Amino acid sequence: MTLPMRERRNDQPSFIEICARRDMTRREFLRLGGMLGLAAAVSPLAACARLPQPGEGLSDSTLAFTEIAKNTLDRPAVAPGYSMQRLISWGDALDGRKESFDPRTLTADAQAKRFGYNNDYTAYMPFPWGSKNSSHGLLFVNHEYTNAHLMFPGIEREKIIQQVSEQQVRVEQEANGFSVIEIQRSGENGWQTVPGSMYARRGTATTPMRISGPAKGHKRLQTSYDTQGVALKGTMANCAGGVTPWGTVLTAEENFHGYFANLEKDNPEYANHASYGIGEELWYGWSRYDDRFDLKKSPNEPNRFGWVVEVDPYRPEKAPIKRTALGRFKHECANTTLTPDGRVAVYSGDDEVFEYVYRFVSSKPYNPDNRDANDGLLDEGILYAARFNEDGTMQWLPLVFGHGALTEKNGFHSQADVLIETRRAADLMGATPMDRPEDVEVNPVTGQLFISLTRNDGRELDATGKLHRRAPDPYGLVLELSPPLANGKPDHGAEMFFWEIFLEGGDPLNTTHKAYYPHFITQHGWLTNPDNVAFDNQGRIWICTDGQPKAIQLNDGLYAADTVGKGRGETRLFMTVPVGAEMTGPSFTPDSKTLFISVQHPGDSDGSDFAKPSTRWPDFAEGLPPRPSVVAVTKDDGGVIGS
Ligand code: FEO
Ligand code: CA
Ligand code: CA
Ligand code: CA
Repeated sequence: MTLPMRERRNDQPSFIEICARRDMTRREFLRLGGMLGLAAAVSPLAACARLPQPGEGLSDSTLAFTEIAKNTLDRPAVAPGYSMQRLISWGDALDGRKESFDPRTLTADAQAKRFGYNNDYTAYMPFPWGSKNSSHGLLFVNHEYTNAHLMFPGIEREKIIQQVSEQQVRVEQEANGFSVIEIQRSGENGWQTVPGSMYARRGTATTPMRISGPAKGHKRLQTSYDTQGVALKGTMANCAGGVTPWGTVLTAEENFHGYFANLEKDNPEYANHASYGIGEELWYGWSRYDDRFDLKKSPNEPNRFGWVVEVDPYRPEKAPIKRTALGRFKHECANTTLTPDGRVAVYSGDDEVFEYVYRFVSSKPYNPDNRDANDGLLDEGILYAARFNEDGTMQWLPLVFGHGALTEKNGFHSQADVLIETRRAADLMGATPMDRPEDVEVNPVTGQLFISLTRNDGRELDATGKLHRRAPDPYGLVLELSPPLANGKPDHGAEMFFWEIFLEGGDPLNTTHKAYYPHFITQHGWLTNPDNVAFDNQGRIWICTDGQPKAIQLNDGLYAADTVGKGRGETRLFMTVPVGAEMTGPSFTPDSKTLFISVQHPGDSDGSDFAKPSTRWPDFAEGLPPRPSVVAVTKDDGGVIGS
């Protein structure tokens, strides 16, 4: 998606400017607790005349798979010795029943019971929670948005808003949100959805939900159909997420702005809504048929989206809860870890150019002995925004009513106001504008925090430097942050971290790209536009890509690398998705023997539509459009993925 760009709102340098100002020619960085390390002067790739072929003997990686070639195939590809199994696709029954599917006659009622569109985040949840069961569990899957021009006949990509019918809009609403499916692996059939599962369920843009935390009941969250501001209909734009230590899922509402029409100056929330991009672009036709999305009729409705929603996949009767203490913005993700004293830290990025990285830390510790005691843990705590300093440190700025600039003088009257207008609060506190933060996730083995910054086409030429000279940056980068140690453990509650660049995307042999990798890579190992990441049980990073600049136009892929040792940062291409698709939602079973991948928006290429899609994967049946699907990847010898 092309995302809107807000104007810069404070005088903090952009992240890229900080990179430029630092003397990175010696890759200076501070590590855990103040240790100073000096490393190679420049990218070791700089002296290469050509990149090696896979297997030319330069690898230091612990990853043993044979890299595949970059490609433009109409179907997925994976490393030799691995198999891909399509687990579930848009329109499939959730509980294993075989049902026919025809998008021409699909109704909202039918869609509400079936797998949604544009699957993104996946999370494998073992049975029982806390076990290492890697052959029977629940799979939680997000559904981020819809592509009406690929879902339905006769709709042009540029005229979706005008051409979509009421029935189609109702289907789109039921195709957003999340799915929970029960899955089991057997030797003969691989992974299958379990017939008649009691856990299978959908959450959609119309599912009843609750609101909790400091903004619950606030008048800015009240509407004509919810005069108390405590309950609402639906979740949408669900991008990535995270799993809590007590076995619930946090699903993150990201690009909620493109659904709301008719923002006018007399709307009491005009400035707030505009700061989230409402009024700039309308992407969907929902407001034509549903008053909730018409701001003349429902002026507060956008304040009820942009939150993190907690869902208990093991308790299908329980309503999802929007946890307002985690802030309101275009949440890419919500990944959790524990502090040394047992409190919960939740990391999230606001995926828009010049937006921020956030962390929430709970007031109370996690209770490992009583699952129910953790219900509400995410309602009390402190939300922080990140400021990156030139000396290699990163400071967490608390967003607390009454603290710093977050006062009545600046229009904040309570913590609810701070949370409803999280972006403005972070502006005023001096957070560092970033290059579209996507996944923000802790390596469970090393305790270090990785941040994907996918690209920033709006950065200006005033950001130049010895290492990071790209303005604009069409290729993106990955950061690695080190918390200080407390009692020998990474302290994710600390006020200051240390940062360094893990890699900068692009083709290292194309001098105009100015890419940076800390290790030699092959001609297939370079990547652009990092998005979702996952870590296997050995702490190796698996990086999905989302899109490239037009000049590249290769299929998106999944790249894996060590994060420590001699092979650190040696990215290798493991898998690709079909033309037009985005690679999203990687997750592993506890034994790392199955990798789940979301293939999102296959066939969404220029000029592609329902009648003539650029691929008909996975069915390849005439008359059936491409279908977003989840794929399970296993190693043919039954071993650990990548090893
Ligand atoms: Fe939905 Fe930031 O990707
Ligand atoms: Ca994403
Ligand atoms: Ca992730
Ligand atoms: Ca993305």
